[in-house]
Amino acid sequence: MTTDSLLLQVDGLRVAAGRDGETTLVDGVSLSVAPGECLGLVGESGSGKSLTLRSVLSLLPPSIRQTAGAIRLADDAGVLAERHPKDLRGNGVSMIFQEPMSSLNPTMRIGDLVAAGARAHGQSRAEARRTALRLLEEVGIPDPQQRLRAWPHELSGGLRQRVMIAMALSVEPRLLLCDEPTTALDATIQDQILTLLERLRRERGLAVVFVSHDLGVISRIADRTAVMYAGTIVEEGPTAALISAPRHPYTRALVASMPSADRKSGRLATIPGSPPTAGQWPSGCRFAPRCAYAIDECRIAQPALVPVAPERTSACLRDHELQEMHMTEPLAS
Ligand SMILES: Nc1ncnc2c1ncn2[C@@H]1O[C@H](COP(=O)(O)OP(=O)(O)OP(=O)(O)O)[C@@H](O)[C@H]1O
Ligand code: SF4
Ligand SMILES: [Mg+2]
Repeated sequence: MTTDSLLLQVDGLRVAAGRDGETTLVDGVSLSVAPGECLGLVGESGSGKSLTLRSVLSLLPPSIRQTAGAIRLADDAGVLAERHPKDLRGNGVSMIFQEPMSSLNPTMRIGDLVAAGARAHGQSRAEARRTALRLLEEVGIPDPQQRLRAWPHELSGGLRQRVMIAMALSVEPRLLLCDEPTTALDATIQDQILTLLERLRRERGLAVVFVSHDLGVISRIADRTAVMYAGTIVEEGPTAALISAPRHPYTRALVASMPSADRKSGRLATIPGSPPTAGQWPSGCRFAPRCAYAIDECRIAQPALVPVAPERTSACLRDHELQEMHMTEPLAS
């Protein structure tokens, strides 16, 4: 993919905590998103997914900062330029979060919450009110006229998430950052929200970065997927190919632990052990303590993320050997 066809480019992002940035939490993450594309970001808890996403909007917690790397966004002419935090919110990029209640101001009515983005975008009070009504309709909120006057606490979790999406759309974004937007919802509502996001992508040509720890959700929504482990990306590729033929042992373990309708044995593999705590990453490959294929060399230097097939990258020292071995070994355990 050439950079002139990109909407977002993250290059060598490092994020750290501590007064002098002594604890690295995100360690050299690079990723890109084309207009209209959906990139999935998947990995276990603590791998750095949220901090990566928040960095794009300069929404890091107070004790955490970006210590290296560049984040570029395409301007109206499609030219990538270093993003300026002040220009971001309300200008091409929106974000929705896992728990909408903590992001919805409880003292504002739904109509005012959704209208605020449109107001910030230069609409008059009356126009913003009409925009809010139209957006509540667009995201499938029943009785939108009535809901304009409702308070956030009067809505169910699913409706609150729809309001969050309406708020995100009110600034006419080209890129929507979604941080586990369906994780707190039950399966039926989760399915409805994913269907809504799919429709919005289609109708509005929205690009999306979708964070989840659930590869099943990612497989449904993302065109391409990046797998994160201990602050780094360990594999990236087209989602269908990555799931049907994972290259990195960590991706392979994630896929094997994924419930699947056609998995005959009914027994799911679990990944032994747990991810290392940030700041206590082992030297060499960070997955080595949990990897069934680790050898001594794996513990010496951290493997680089390198091309392993067309449109595929992986960060495993033993990629070639394992590739041959897996040809004869089925994925389901
Ligand atoms: N405010 C903070 N102060 C210190 N460390 C933090 C803070 N927020 C996150 N971290 C640490 O940064 C690392 C990455 O966190 P992040 O929230 O990005 O993970 P994640 O992949 O989104 O996990 P989850 O799936 O649980 O949401 C973790 O080790 C986490 O403990
Ligand atoms: S580099 Fe070694 S330890 Fe790391 S994933 Fe590959 S085989 Fe496993
Ligand atoms: Mg998170």
